[in-house]
Parts: sequence; C-alpha cells; structure tokens
Amino acid sequence: MLNLLVRNATLPDGRTGMSIAVQDGRIVEVTAGLSEAQAPAHETLDAQGQLVAPHFVDPHFHMDATLSYGLPRVNASGTLLEGIALWGELKPLLKQEALIERALAYCDWAVAKGLLAIRTHVDTSDPSMLAVDALLEVKRLVAPYIDLQLVAFPQDGVLRAPGGVENLKRALDRGVDVVGGIPHFERTMADGAASVKLLCEIAAERGKRVDMHCDESDDPMSRHIETLAAESQRLGLHGRVTGSHCTSMHSMDNYYVSKLLPLIAESGVSVIANPLINITLQGRHDTYPKRRGMTRVPELMAAGVNVAFGHDCVMDPWYGMGSGDMLEVAHMGLHVAQMTSQAGIRRCFDAVTTNAAKVFGLLRYGLEPGCDASFVLLQAKDPIEAIRLRATRLKVYRRGVLLAETAPAAAQLRLDGRPAVCDWRMP
Ligand code: FE2
Repeated sequence: MLNLLVRNATLPDGRTGMSIAVQDGRIVEVTAGLSEAQAPAHETLDAQGQLVAPHFVDPHFHMDATLSYGLPRVNASGTLLEGIALWGELKPLLKQEALIERALAYCDWAVAKGLLAIRTHVDTSDPSMLAVDALLEVKRLVAPYIDLQLVAFPQDGVLRAPGGVENLKRALDRGVDVVGGIPHFERTMADGAASVKLLCEIAAERGKRVDMHCDESDDPMSRHIETLAAESQRLGLHGRVTGSHCTSMHSMDNYYVSKLLPLIAESGVSVIANPLINITLQGRHDTYPKRRGMTRVPELMAAGVNVAFGHDCVMDPWYGMGSGDMLEVAHMGLHVAQMTSQAGIRRCFDAVTTNAAKVFGLLRYGLEPGCDASFVLLQAKDPIEAIRLRATRLKVYRRGVLLAETAPAAAQLRLDGRPAVCDWRMP
C-alpha cells in the first residue's frame, strides 16, 4: 500500500488529471488518472485540478540578519551602503540566542509558504564566528524540514577587512558549505578581481561551490562577473559557480554585454537576480530617468545561462518587507524584467523552483519517479495564476510528510443582500 496518493493534479508543465504515487518519502509514479482502487494508499489527496509544484527554493538569502528590522535603527537612505553600515552597527549587539530565535521564526514562515530549501549567506567577518555558529546550529535544528545551505560571506571584504581570508577559512572549517565573496566592496577594482581569483582557488582546493555577491552596484565598469566566469573556466568549476545580483550588467554598454553573455554561458556560471532588493537598492543615486538596476534576466536566459531569483532580505537593514514568499519574488521579477508573456511568466516560476534548485545542487528535486515527495498544492490552476495571486499554499509536503496547511483564500461578499464568494479566479 502506498503512503500517499495525490489525484487530479495539474503539473507545472501543463499536464492535467495527474496522479502522484508516494512511497517511503519518494515519488514512485507520476501518471494520468490513477484511481484509489488501482493505487490504494494510507492517505489520498484530491487536488481538484489545482497546481502541484515542487517546493520553492530560495537560492540567495541572509538569515543572520533576517527579522532584525529596526535594530538598532532603520535604514534612512535606503541604500545598500547604509544597509552595510547599519549591519556593522548591529553586529556588536548580536546575541547568538536571539539570532537563532529570529532565524527559526523565519524558517516557520518559509515552511508555511512551501519554501523548503534556502541558501543563506552568513557574514564571516566577525572573528568570534557568532553568526556562523548560530546558523550552523539553525541548519541542524531545521534539517527535518528545510534544506539549509550556508555560504561563507565576507561582508566587509575578504581582502579589505583585517583577517578576512583567515575568518572565511575558519567558517569553512566549521562546516559552512559554499565560498562567497563581495568583490565590488573591496578597495579597488584590482583588489576585487584578486579576491575573486583567491576565493575561487580556495573553493577548488576544498571541492566547494562558489556564490559571490558580484557587481551589486549601478557602476557599468564593475565587471567582476567577467573574472568570475574566467576563473570558473580556468579552475574547471563548471556548473558549481554562481554570480549573485550582477546589477551592474543593467548599466553596462550593450556591445560589451554581447561579449559577456556567451562568456558566462560557456563557463557554466549561474546568475541570481534578487528582484525585490535590486529594484529597492539600485538607482538610488539617479535622478530621472531612474534605473531599475536588476540584471539582464531574459537576455541571460536566452543565452543559455541558468538564472534564478532570490529573496535576499526579509525585515533587515536592507529591506523592511517580505514574508518568505517566493511567488512574491517571482511576481516582482516578471514586472521588473518585463517578462509578461505567458512563456516569460512561466520562466519566472522556474526561477524560484527548478533553476534555483540547480544553483543549490539539490538532489532528487522535481516531480519525477525517484524524486523526493516534496511538493506544494497551490490554490491556482497553473504557474501563471499562482504568481498572479501569490496563491495560497494549501498543503506543503516534504518527503511525503504533511508539514503545513493553509485554508483557501476566499471572501464572502454581501452585495445588496446577495451572498457570493469571491476567490479571484477568472470566471
Ligand atoms: Fe545578498
């Protein structure tokens, strides 16, 4: 007997009336119209034609800062640099217990939104390793319900801050998974390029993946993504390297970008845009016209680059909004990138699911036999409606176990005494 049978599901690829059979936490069969008699199960879920999608994946987050909004004050200018300065004011005040408590609260929000894998950067600049140890503990605590991947992130610059390299290596020694960096925050362009080279070499030596904050500025001459792609190629890190943000690409010369795009594609470097944060932090020095600042998402995708969307921040020194909802991220992404065609919207859904899982290197991800039975039932008929409505996550399963449920969204209307239900679906 099966553990779980999901019936009458619509899948992200458009197949309808599908059944998903689950045994021992894995998907064993995905087929059209399996009946309860054909596949008896301990639990049967009728999806009623609604969308069942693999769980959401956030490939770029800062869990050490999350839910600290207002501590010790709010970012007045709204800029990236004031956010970094504010984080610097907060760091000496951080207490490990409080940091863990905030991170765990965020993980609860994430599970409720069907977000079951998060790659979070953790600041390694502090020699006490307080944030590193806190997030390693959070990773252990949430392992039964969230895959948490940690990136060693030298927020103050691996070369610029005293002991930067040493501290980053200590974080990796403690069990942090991925090598991070922030070349645009080093003192000079040359230092930035040197940091990219050094960090990629550390990753190659240790067999780690790389994910750098890369060119998070409006400076068209900030070109560390070029060095990152070249180093990835040189060291044979194909498919294991990611450039996060890459907002300078928004402002680059078009001729230069025509050379850069194939270079990124050839090197197998993934790119992560963070639409909510990019649209908020970039263009702050502009008058009008004011640049959006997000990287060139459709152009990168057309060039064959794996592009994912991250949340980056929720209620922290950089951003005072958010709730762990990757559909909100995709919604902003499609607006900022003007990816409003049906195919474009679907690609934005991929950016917070399959593409993000690829960045993460998640094993057994998807809705195929052999994959983990980790999926979400949404109150929507397809990925497009899911993004439009930031649809309710009706049920969230991980490895065949129900982790969260939310009641369907609906309003009771009382118009001229005529009772009616509004659920925002197309008539
Ligand atoms: Fe970030």
